[in-house]
Amino acid sequence: MPVLKEKPRAVARDHYLLEIAWDAGESRPGQFVAVRVSEGTDPLLRRPFSIFSRDPGTVSILVRTVGKGTGLLALREPGAIDVIGPLGTGFSILRDARVLLAGGGVGNAPLYYLARELKKTGCDITCIYGARSRDFIYLEDRYREECSRFILTTDDGSAGEKGMVPDAADRLLRDERFDMVYICGPAAMMKATAARAHGSPVEVSVENYFGCGIGICAGCSIETTDGRKRACIDGPVFTGTSVIWDSMPD
Ligand SMILES: Cc1cc2nc3c(=O)[nH]c(=O)nc-3n(C[C@H](O)[C@H](O)[C@H](O)COP(=O)(O)OP(=O)(O)OC[C@H]3O[C@@H](n4cnc5c(N)ncnc54)[C@H](O)[C@@H]3O)c2cc1C
Ligand code: FES
Repeated sequence: MPVLKEKPRAVARDHYLLEIAWDAGESRPGQFVAVRVSEGTDPLLRRPFSIFSRDPGTVSILVRTVGKGTGLLALREPGAIDVIGPLGTGFSILRDARVLLAGGGVGNAPLYYLARELKKTGCDITCIYGARSRDFIYLEDRYREECSRFILTTDDGSAGEKGMVPDAADRLLRDERFDMVYICGPAAMMKATAARAHGSPVEVSVENYFGCGIGICAGCSIETTDGRKRACIDGPVFTGTSVIWDSMPD
C-alpha cells in the first residue's frame, strides 16, 4: 500500500511536494498517477498528477493547489494514500541527443523526472523554466543540477528573464537544432512553443480535464490529426504536430 512519507512540503507559493513510499511498477517520465484525494465521496474522482521524480521505493508528485481536491491533498497527514498508476504514455527517451525542455508553471513538474532520465542516457539538456513570478518557482536547484543550460523566465521579471517561455524558446530554436523539444504547460503556451520549433521534433504532455483517468469516460478526449484520442490512455504525451491546438481549451 502506498504511504505518504511525511506531510506535504511547501516548495513555492501554492505548490507542495508529496513523497510517496510505493513500489509502483515501471514508469516513464510523462506518465501520471491518479490519487484519491478524499476519504469520503467528495470529490469522488481521482485527480491526475504527473510523476515529478522516481527513486527506488519512492514516487514523488508536485501539487499546485487550485481547488478542493488539491487543497485536501496539501493538508494530508503522513500515512496510507490511495494512488494508482503509473498511467498513460511517456516521453521518448533519446540517447546522446541535444534536447530542449520547455515548461510553464506546474507543467515543469514532469520535466524534472524527464531531465533526470535524459541525463542518464547521455543527453545534453537545455531547460527553459517558466513561472508567473519568483514566488511560484519551485525546486530550481534540482533542475539546474540536471541540465547543462538552464534558462529561467518569469512573466513579471521578478526572477530570471522577463517574458514568456515561447519567446525564449523561439530565440533558441531560430539558431539551434534540437533532436527533441519536450513541452508541458498551459495549452496556449504549448501551442505557441510548438509553433516556434523551426523544424525540431516536438513532444507535448497535455494536462486537460480528466474524468476516470483510465480510458472509460472519454471526458479527456482531444482532437488530433489521427482523430479523437483519450488523453489518459493514448496520451498525455503526444507529438506536437498531431495535436489540433485550436480544439484545446486554454
Ligand atoms: C495528465 C495530467 C497531469 C497533471 N499533472 C499535474 C501535476 O503534476 N501537478 C499539479 O498540480 N496538477 C497536475 N495536473 C492538474 C491537476 O490534475 C488538477 O489541478 C486537479 O485535478 C484539480 O483538482 P481540484 O479538485 O483541486 O480542482 P477542482 O476543484 O476540480 O477545480 C478547481 C479549478 O481548477 C481548474 N482545473 C481543474 N483541473 C484542471 C486541469 N487539468 N487543468 C487546468 N485547470 C484545471 C478548474 O477549472 C477550476 O477552476 C495534471 C492534470 C493532468 C490531466
Ligand atoms: S479520463 Fe476517462 S477516458 Fe480519459
